[in-house]
Amino acid sequence: MSKVLAFDVYGTLIDPHGVVSLLQSLVGDQAVAFSTLWRNKQLEYTFRRAAMGGGKHYRDFGVCTQAALDYTDAFMQTGLSEANKQILMTKYAELPAFEEVPSSLQALQASGLDCWAFSNGTPTGVAQVISHAGIEQYLLGVFSVNQVRTFKPAGTTYDAFAKQHAHGRGADCVLISSNPFDVIGAKAAGWHAVWLQRSAANVFDPWELQPDVTIASLEQLLDVIVSLP
Ligand code: LAC
Repeated sequence: MSKVLAFDVYGTLIDPHGVVSLLQSLVGDQAVAFSTLWRNKQLEYTFRRAAMGGGKHYRDFGVCTQAALDYTDAFMQTGLSEANKQILMTKYAELPAFEEVPSSLQALQASGLDCWAFSNGTPTGVAQVISHAGIEQYLLGVFSVNQVRTFKPAGTTYDAFAKQHAHGRGADCVLISSNPFDVIGAKAAGWHAVWLQRSAANVFDPWELQPDVTIASLEQLLDVIVSLP
């Protein structure tokens, strides 16, 4: 069987810091720090809910994103109004794709590869953002962790994707992600994993699990996929 490609969404296809210019108009020169804390808190909240076992403690990505926004506003004492928070949440559904994403996905699709979005985001949130970014047509669909009520890197999320799209064979799945926690989760589940190192300043976690391949741009992915065992 040929490989099934599972693309992480936020940070890999879509730029979560695409809110910075809007934030500049709301919080001035705190915009970059605000965006960074918001994203880090959002991830922390998903990790904590997964560590609590998911299930009845699961709240979807939108809830985690909203709570992280409220936390960041309180911590940074930026005093955002509810209306402005709503504008920021709406903007989250309109984040841009990274520049090379549309042409790279198009080339992968033209090569006959099965490409899916595989995200901690909600089915609706991911569908909206990839549609707005104009890349929906290059993907076969969205696999959201929502259906297993926990978050990557919980092993059940990778297993559920493999069951649904690769006859349960993790070895036929390739994760492509800029998020080291996601790459490590995929490797732990027996998948292949490609780390997209979007900036030379990004450091991979020094754990026992490492990516099969590291690339600097999705333009390099096609060559890499054909060389995987
Ligand atoms: C995603 C986030 C976690 O799964 O990057 O899309």
